[in-house]
Amino acid sequence: MKLDIAVLSGDGIGPEVTAQAIKALEAVAHSFDHNFIFKEALVGAIAIDKTGNPLPNETLELCANTDAVLFGAIGDPKYDNNPSAPVRPEQGLLKLRKELGLYANIRPVKAYDTLIDKSPLKREIIEGTDISIYRELTGGIYFGKKELSDDGTVASDLCEYSQAEIERIAHLAFKAAQKRRKKLTLVDKANVLESSRLWRKVVTEIAKGYDDVTIDFLFVDNAAMQMILNPSQFDVILTENMFGDIISDEASVIGGSIGLLASASVGDTCCMFEPIHGSYPQATGKGIANPIAAILSAAMLLEHFDLINEANAIKAAVEKALELNLTTPDLNNNNPLTTEKVGDFITDYILNPEDSNLNFENIHVGQSTII
Ligand code: IPM
Ligand code: MG
Repeated sequence: MKLDIAVLSGDGIGPEVTAQAIKALEAVAHSFDHNFIFKEALVGAIAIDKTGNPLPNETLELCANTDAVLFGAIGDPKYDNNPSAPVRPEQGLLKLRKELGLYANIRPVKAYDTLIDKSPLKREIIEGTDISIYRELTGGIYFGKKELSDDGTVASDLCEYSQAEIERIAHLAFKAAQKRRKKLTLVDKANVLESSRLWRKVVTEIAKGYDDVTIDFLFVDNAAMQMILNPSQFDVILTENMFGDIISDEASVIGGSIGLLASASVGDTCCMFEPIHGSYPQATGKGIANPIAAILSAAMLLEHFDLINEANAIKAAVEKALELNLTTPDLNNNNPLTTEKVGDFITDYILNPEDSNLNFENIHVGQSTII
């Protein structure tokens, strides 16, 4: 298969981790005889520095005309601490999601057996957790009308949803549940918010067309608690934009590191794949950022195009790296590898999965052998 892939590596650790995801995709292209063409473009703080715009038109045009977008991270502390900055890197990401119509953000959360003791949560609580979060991505409070009074003392952000916006992501979430454990939990705040009551009404109606899926409703405050009390109860979680942002960061502690969480953002015509961690500016250039979330995002890209064996090749390589503890300092304090070396190992494993496990550590670490 030929795929044109726009690469928006962005800020902070974005370029380092995205480089590893590209290496993994190149290894897949080599092993499975595909042709992936990567085209880079600017986004985020680096784009502001170079062009004054966090999402230059060229970038948007490239993304709209490629098969998929591979995204790194955006954000820079110089903007975080300046609430009156006229442009912000995040605007680039939000505009990209909106313009490309990426209304569904899918965030898988899994407790890997090999990492279970790395989580701050107890083994017996997180064992068996396997959740797929469907976060609405182009509506709600993120995109509602924003106002600041003339004297700068009163501010508001409108949370608005239409039935159509809820329906399109709900169908995707129900279809996903049908292929999984057939349970869907809608997370909302229907005891307080009108928009949440609309979510409940619309989702209840849609559920009638998926009678093999059990549906459950949770208020977001309770869901936040359940996520750390009993996360294995969840299968598919469906929720609006901001609740999904918060719940997915919370869920990331289950896996032991936010550096493991990948995501896919899909719409009717475009798709984008990004790690859920941010730009982690303190780590930039130090080789300590975990590339696995970016690499697993590349696996989600392959799955999106039905390249299932190819995606599994990446996942198997990641699992092997975790099993052998060939990981960055967030998961391995004593003998960590650099971002690049983890990427090298995963790349080599994709190319040579038949090599004996025993030799792997010696043979592969520190060498990228074939490509
Ligand atoms: C995420 C991030 C973004 C969001 C930021 C960077 C705008 O936190 O993708 O979860 O809030 O959606
Ligand atoms: Mg977030």
